[in-house]
Amino acid sequence: MTFVVTENCIKCKYTDCVEVCPVDCFYEGPNFLVIHPDECIDCALCEPECPAEAIFSEDELPDGQESFVEINAELADVWPNISEKKDPLPEAEEWDGTPGKRDKLER
Ligand code: SF4
Ligand code: F3S
Repeated sequence: MTFVVTENCIKCKYTDCVEVCPVDCFYEGPNFLVIHPDECIDCALCEPECPAEAIFSEDELPDGQESFVEINAELADVWPNISEKKDPLPEAEEWDGTPGKRDKLER
């Protein structure tokens, strides 16, 4: 089991999540974060911290977000680790809650 970052993180990247993770298992891309599934210890601390409500347990993913399990696993192996909060992306508030952001994911 692991927690998964889903679509609504894209173009927001608030990074509040990384501050609470006890095992520093977040990895950062240009406009999205992912969780490394082999490092996450399922503590659930990050889930309520995300202002965009983008983090879910793998077994409680909203409909249509299932592909993010694979996306998190794939990108966690290639992106650098992030363990300290930084400013959100400049247009985070505008993009928060916008549907159909999947195509905006930069790798
Ligand atoms: Fe880190 Fe816990 Fe969130 Fe997993 S559930 S990513 S271990 S804070
Ligand atoms: Fe993304 Fe939410 Fe973390 S927007 S960077 S999952 S706090």
